[in-house]
Amino acid sequence: MKIDTNKRRLVLLISIVIVAISGSLFASSNIEIVAAKGQFQFPFFDTKTPVWQYNNQIPGPIIRAKEGSILTVNFANQLDEPTTIHWHGLRIDNAMDGVPGVTQEAIQPGDKFIYRLGLEEAGTYWYHPHFNNSEQLERGLKGVLIVEEKEVQPWSKELILLMDDWRLQKDGTIYPKFNTPSDLMHDGRWGNVPTINGEVKPDFLVNPGERIRLRLINGANARVFLPNFDGISAEIIAVDGRPVSKVFPLTKFYLSPGNRIDLDVTIPKDAGGKTFILEDRFPRNKYLLATLTVSNEPTVLPPTFTPQTAEEFIPAKIFDNVAISKTWDLNAFRGGKLGIGWGMNKQLWPESDRADLQLGQPQKVVFQNSSGRLHPMHIHGVFFRVLERNGEPAVEQFTRDTVLVGPKETVVIGLVPEHRGIWVTHCHILEHAEAGMMTAIAINGQDQNKKGNGP
Ligand code: C2O
Ligand code: CU
Repeated sequence: MKIDTNKRRLVLLISIVIVAISGSLFASSNIEIVAAKGQFQFPFFDTKTPVWQYNNQIPGPIIRAKEGSILTVNFANQLDEPTTIHWHGLRIDNAMDGVPGVTQEAIQPGDKFIYRLGLEEAGTYWYHPHFNNSEQLERGLKGVLIVEEKEVQPWSKELILLMDDWRLQKDGTIYPKFNTPSDLMHDGRWGNVPTINGEVKPDFLVNPGERIRLRLINGANARVFLPNFDGISAEIIAVDGRPVSKVFPLTKFYLSPGNRIDLDVTIPKDAGGKTFILEDRFPRNKYLLATLTVSNEPTVLPPTFTPQTAEEFIPAKIFDNVAISKTWDLNAFRGGKLGIGWGMNKQLWPESDRADLQLGQPQKVVFQNSSGRLHPMHIHGVFFRVLERNGEPAVEQFTRDTVLVGPKETVVIGLVPEHRGIWVTHCHILEHAEAGMMTAIAINGQDQNKKGNGP
């Protein structure tokens, strides 16, 4: 009898310890996301614009969770067509990556899906559908996902700017033709109304002396931004979610669809009453995106600390004697479901010339753009480092998940796969992806014959 009780106590004790350990290692949180049709008020229309949105808002809710935690997303599809959610930039279990026909079945109207995300790396990410993308994102489905560092730094303020670009008609509706021949022959669907967090030229109120972490996310279908501040300096501290190896000033960073940058901006102590401009210098005529207006509040002392860097994160030197595993030639030709196909080695998704890579091995991959258009190439589930451009060494001081490959440009990247599965690789100009510009990297001989049903 006595032994029995002791045994029971021991078992109880062990289970308490297990709960305590798993509780601290895997804190978890739960959220609900619903995709549905709705209405959105743009400032210059008398009527509301019909949109598709997450949780009744444009953009979708900002999701925040801690590095090292598990985030459970209970997702419901109340649209009239199938959808999925992809967590852009996250390195997660392949089954949670949200690619229909590859990692899951498309979620049908009225159906639900539970995403369980193990958040390994802090940083700025975003989420969006991966079904009929060029239409679903353009109609409003997207949102920001912030994975917070375990140790929070004492920023005075954080600003999150999700950049977007809409093609609107005079009657207040979204231009209803998608993947037009003109979109396909050029750099996708560029709109006529750039927005930030759904607003046109928003103003952000800041205080003199504040040190601000400003997160810029390009969630547009196709538009490339070249963001710049006028009158104030900004340092890039993270690219595509990950801390840079070395902090550098924001002077000429092409923020293509999918890219994110985190900036360190200190408002000068004597700037009370001034307004600073965030502008886009990509087009010939630069234009205003947003303003920072400085209050006349008493100056705060800027907090002093050094933002994290990551020198040893996928360092360039590990690729020194590595041979090229795969070269993808990017070009257009007549054919495919839209009449103009954008191919990777002349294949149109779901036909594809896939790469087969080994887990844990440094690998080199080449994007060779034979066309005269832009291709922001994105790889799911990995971070990579740009090593060469047009045959010249061009090692970047940061890693990425999306790289803009310019007309006739060849870019060599290095990566180390750390998660098994099939990770799609595509142009983030969504009209190009819809026209076939997608393939996959299969890590450790995952099923090569599985066919997808669209990006
Ligand atoms: Cu934002 Cu498949 O990507
Ligand atoms: Cu492209």
